[in-house]
Amino acid sequence: MTVIDADALTARAKELFAHEHARLLEGTPRSKALFERASASMPLGVASSFQAGSPYPIYLERGRGAEVWDVDGTSYIDFHNGFGTMAVGHAHPKILEALARTAARGTHFAVTTEPAVLLAEELCRRFQLDLVRFTNSGTEATMDAIRVARGVTGRDVVCKIEGSYHGHHDTVMFSVVPGESVLEHEEITNATPMSRGIPVELAKWTLAVPFNDLAAVESLFSQRAGEIACLIIEPVMMNIGIVMPADGYLRGLRELCTRHGVVLIFDEVKCGATIAEGGAIERFGVQPDLACFAKAIGGGLPLGAFGGRGELMGEIGHGIAQQGTFNGNPLAAAAGLAALTEILTPDAYVHLSSIGSRLASGCERAITAAGLPAHVIDLGCKGCVSYRSAPLTDYRDFLETNADLFDASWAWLVNRGIFMTPGNEEQWTLSVQHDDDDIDRFVEVFGGFCAAVSGSSA
Ligand SMILES: Cc1ncc(COP(=O)(O)O)c(C=O)c1O
Repeated sequence: MTVIDADALTARAKELFAHEHARLLEGTPRSKALFERASASMPLGVASSFQAGSPYPIYLERGRGAEVWDVDGTSYIDFHNGFGTMAVGHAHPKILEALARTAARGTHFAVTTEPAVLLAEELCRRFQLDLVRFTNSGTEATMDAIRVARGVTGRDVVCKIEGSYHGHHDTVMFSVVPGESVLEHEEITNATPMSRGIPVELAKWTLAVPFNDLAAVESLFSQRAGEIACLIIEPVMMNIGIVMPADGYLRGLRELCTRHGVVLIFDEVKCGATIAEGGAIERFGVQPDLACFAKAIGGGLPLGAFGGRGELMGEIGHGIAQQGTFNGNPLAAAAGLAALTEILTPDAYVHLSSIGSRLASGCERAITAAGLPAHVIDLGCKGCVSYRSAPLTDYRDFLETNADLFDASWAWLVNRGIFMTPGNEEQWTLSVQHDDDDIDRFVEVFGGFCAAVSGSSA
């Protein structure tokens, strides 16, 4: 395998990005026009800052199956899939049917309806939860789970993982993108908030430890367990590419939390219902005290949920508040129920695993042939290419990934009809409506990128 000089590769990636990005802007005049209009009514011209782009984002018009169309009429195979929400694919007939049937009977009552009850039963079955409550987003799910943990334990401190994202409520907006500052600390950090508008004093309630470092958790708990309500963690980190838990790590956390009376919360907003029917709980065989869900469980509608042990969840309504006008909305519940019981069935996971491995092995071959410093993670429905030779163990490793290579690959893929999440912290999401041809097209285009950036195609 050829070893490419790192500086030369970065220079080539920057050059390629400049060329591809200019081409992308040329091909998206209607997105530009919509951006200009949208900027007069919304900051950055978008509904959420995660949807912003530089100098403007691509605005989509519609989607069907594995395909989406932008406002310029260009079609793409969708590997972005709503940041991991659309495991069912776009406009799935069963989702459309559930929505039409439900909408015809009224769209909202703020009273619990039968679909919400059936969906609660399905979530309890899949994820082995005693009780569950609904929210409208992943942010609300993690906020409410932390509320329950604090309420039950009577403790205030929250332990999270360095460089992890759990939504945009104040408690978890520390150590989200800490950058090089983490390298100044041995292990336990509490950092500046990710946003202005969050009181800096709140930092004292949120402590962060590196992922995959049991010793850091052990030492923190032995000093301060009496103050710590919960440890909230993505069992597989999915906001810095994908970082797998080391063998025994999750089990070790389970034991430490049990020993110190700390509530273990799994944030399965991205991995629940994607990486296995029963999410990370099933895949890694470790049961948390509470777990949080959103994205794929709603079949494309805004739906979140959290749940877990009866002794904890049963305190809701007995001194612990959890509520919301739209919680359990019939449309969201009907879409979630159709997604989980009619579409994301055991067969679907066999399909997702097969196309996921086809995509990962195709990318791996292209990387090896070009001699690029990159690796691939395959979790079936979810996967990614990270531009660092060795897999990541934590956020500190993520700082070593080559963002220029990612940016160049992103623009190259989009220009050739592969719609991907912008930003090397994200990953692809496959849907039940993707087939081998969609995967092979990605591999072909990605192979072209690897050859071009490494100079092996010249
Ligand atoms: C792991 C994780 N938790 C929580 C959230 C917040 O979910 P939402 O955007 O639905 O509020 C996200 C969003 O990307 C996430 O990735």
